[in-house]
Amino acid sequence: MTRPTEAAVLTVSAAGAVDAEVDAVVVGVHRDGEQLSLGPGAVAVDAALGGRLLEVLARLGANGVAGEVVKVATLGATTAPVVAAVGLGPVEPKPGSPEPHENFRRAAGAAIRALVGTERVGLALVDSDPTLTRAVLEGAALAAYDFVQYKSELPPTYRPPVREIVYLADATGRGEIELQGEVDRVKAVTDAVRLARNWINTPPNDLRPPTFAAQAASAAAEAGLEVEVLDTDALQEGGYGGILAVGLGSAAGPQLVRIAYEPPTSGGEYKHVALIGKGITFDTGGISIKPAQNMQDMKSDMSGAACVIAAMTAIAALRPAVRVTAYVPMAENMPSGSAYRPGDVVTMYGGTKVEVLNTDAEGRMILADAIARAAEDSPDYLVETSTLTGGQIVSLGERISGVMGSTELLERVKDAGGRTGEPMWPMPLPDEVRSGMDSAIADVTQINAGFDRAGHMLQGGSFLSRFVPDGVEWAHIDIAGPSYNTKTPHGYTPKGATGVPLRTLIAIVDDIAAKG
Ligand code: BES
Ligand code: ZN
Ligand code: MN
Repeated sequence: MTRPTEAAVLTVSAAGAVDAEVDAVVVGVHRDGEQLSLGPGAVAVDAALGGRLLEVLARLGANGVAGEVVKVATLGATTAPVVAAVGLGPVEPKPGSPEPHENFRRAAGAAIRALVGTERVGLALVDSDPTLTRAVLEGAALAAYDFVQYKSELPPTYRPPVREIVYLADATGRGEIELQGEVDRVKAVTDAVRLARNWINTPPNDLRPPTFAAQAASAAAEAGLEVEVLDTDALQEGGYGGILAVGLGSAAGPQLVRIAYEPPTSGGEYKHVALIGKGITFDTGGISIKPAQNMQDMKSDMSGAACVIAAMTAIAALRPAVRVTAYVPMAENMPSGSAYRPGDVVTMYGGTKVEVLNTDAEGRMILADAIARAAEDSPDYLVETSTLTGGQIVSLGERISGVMGSTELLERVKDAGGRTGEPMWPMPLPDEVRSGMDSAIADVTQINAGFDRAGHMLQGGSFLSRFVPDGVEWAHIDIAGPSYNTKTPHGYTPKGATGVPLRTLIAIVDDIAAKG
């Protein structure tokens, strides 16, 4: 088999766009009405080309619209043989368009994808705002990704992602040392996204719960974090009825992974954040089996788990001043002679009795146990994320996650998502949805008692809310659509696993570390 592609190397250079020792330089161009204009990083290149860059780009059909990439051969005028001009859209973004950081993140990503097969790429994507550096580096690093390790051999037409990304400091007015700090941070975050994407893209026969738990444990241990894995026997011992029920149909037993991060110095008053992620390594639906079409995409039903575990490795590197504990339930949802069934009443961890109506609503079963377990460690905040419902995709589409939970944290998570380019939208948990899950024979039904699918994203959130103790600020992020790109690549997002909402999890942990 082919080896997995390694992360691109990120470096900073004092060189300018004209004399940088790279194979291509990326500059930005804007579009306002009929007018094409150069971004600040393109000015030096334009001068080296005798002031003709805009004219050349226009002749090559450049529009300057966001995401467009036009390559120009510089024929000796610059050290790099190629200049790639990426569209940034209008100088002043219109209302409703992505905020500047996301615009630059996507532009850097689009350029790096267009330069596939190039070794070393210099980024001269700058603006008056120095905080855009991080976004540019992040978008570039996230775009240099592919997943080819299951190919016996690579086709002759294969071109590897860019191997080295060089941030050209000259145009920014910021020192190399200061920029190195940004590089280190971006590396921690984007390495974590790569780890999560690789797990998510891995075929489900190679990542069943015991294997996933073992890999999670070694990644966490390598990052210097404390890890505990409850295997199936330990789950039985502990009474984790929800996780066990879902795992019954599979020969690969369910697991619960707990990973703890403690901030640098002890003695201070730290907030405690619990992170929980859905780890269904494959979701057939179980006895309430799914249709065959696109069932293969259900290998991504552990995206929440992958993002939570990988986020912990980044948190270990970034060392924020907050306690963070991850609880990750893992199971394979299979139909078999030993599988759980509709009609079962399951006693969950903590004692709640749940009447199962659809074995395909398995995520909430494993998550409820994990939430109840997390509650025992008295977190101040609880953030849970899962590919929970197709209803999320119906309501908000493939790029916007749904957030439910307590009012304040909901807004903070939404803002953190917006800042990182992982858009999220708050959704309500109305009383009638809650009461629609009253069971005739047990404490609660797992879905609407009358099988009403209207607004069923809210049913998932409402069910989980019952397991969150009073006084804990909590958020449930439904990532069914945004976690996995079944369409074509765009910006810094590849096909397949995206890594959403990993960067939001880090942003919310940072936000709590800073503001409490
Ligand atoms: N893993 C699925 C949700 C999903 C659907 C994720 C599409 C990604 C893409 C989840 O376990 C599921 O099957 N949900 C059911 C819930 C229903 C039975 C209440 C659904 O969405 O139909
Ligand atoms: Zn599922
Ligand atoms: Mn399901």
